[in-house]
Amino acid sequence: MSADEFIVTPWHVEGDIDYDKLIKKFGTEKISSELLDKIKNITNEDHFMLRRGIFFSHREMNRIIEDHQKGKGFFLYTGRGPSGHTHIGHLVPWVFAKWLQEKFDVNLYFQLTDDEKFYSKTNLTLEETNKFAYENALDFIALGFNPEKTKIIINTENIQTLYPIAAQVAKKINFSNTKATFGFTNETNIGMIFYTSLQSAPCFIEDKPVLIPLGVDQDPHFRLTRDIAQKIGKQKPALIHNIMIPALTGPGGKMSASEEKGTIYTTDTPDVVKKKINKFAFSGGQPDIEQHRKLGGNPDIDVSYQYLRIFFEPDDEKLKKIYEDYKSGKLLSGELKAILIEKINEFLKVHQEKREKAKQQIEQFLLQNK
Ligand code: TRP
Repeated sequence: MSADEFIVTPWHVEGDIDYDKLIKKFGTEKISSELLDKIKNITNEDHFMLRRGIFFSHREMNRIIEDHQKGKGFFLYTGRGPSGHTHIGHLVPWVFAKWLQEKFDVNLYFQLTDDEKFYSKTNLTLEETNKFAYENALDFIALGFNPEKTKIIINTENIQTLYPIAAQVAKKINFSNTKATFGFTNETNIGMIFYTSLQSAPCFIEDKPVLIPLGVDQDPHFRLTRDIAQKIGKQKPALIHNIMIPALTGPGGKMSASEEKGTIYTTDTPDVVKKKINKFAFSGGQPDIEQHRKLGGNPDIDVSYQYLRIFFEPDDEKLKKIYEDYKSGKLLSGELKAILIEKINEFLKVHQEKREKAKQQIEQFLLQNK
């Protein structure tokens, strides 16, 4: 693959992603300044993830906003494939979903696809992915969702609820559609081929329009859902996409839960966080201090800086100072890493306490089959 190529699918992300090109390739819309203003006016807040383009693209978010202004309701849906422990990159769309839920006062469904990860990962058993589903649910709950308005769906546990909807969807998607969308071959297991209908099912769990905050790699599933929605008498799901969170070891490719060293887990101790960042975080700095002082660093490719921008430093003024100081050479790579280490550890201290408490709350969140 040459330097200007990239791949973005739900099961494989590779290369240096050009997001403007991706918007064209996927046929989504860039979030315009008009749309940003509308969201700002309704929510009375300028969310940093929108302002900084962490959420950069959408499908029909305008319709959701217009419906909302006319007093018509909607609900939120997002999810996670439980292939391992939760890492900090996963929290991006969840934190944003929580913000949307609070601002719009709507229901939210969170799908944990233990079946999907069993189908897609050769090394995982169904018992393991199911165990990870419960583990991941703790991280989700720890973010402080309201159990009255938030339900967790675990595919193998809630199949009774999902299946009648999935069947409607499955009947309208044919093999050549999925093959064209995901590049399936004759060797692909049929669980994978059917799977999109299960990820689609929560879109229609309530008789209202749905808005889905999600990593852009998940868009292909919902492209298929959108194509068939009207055929089953439903509205197309609306989407708002976030960029892929870079792995600690470097830009290009998302942070993957299966690559130990390139990943900071929500369960890591302060010491582990420090070691991982100091050892593995891809740096935009110069090879030695003398050159760094003279030439400055490149924050745009520096993963520590990117984590601050994406999640850990919501204050624009502070972020700008870090950017400029790093670029001018005043701030060294080690110092930038130290800022990030402190921020992550501050966050994880609180998160890990809430995660413990979540063990008592989980029952309230699990969707009950009717
Ligand atoms: N397939 C997603 C993953 O691997 C999990 C998922 C299920 C999801 N439903 C979703 C993600 C809805 C975003 C929105 O992570």
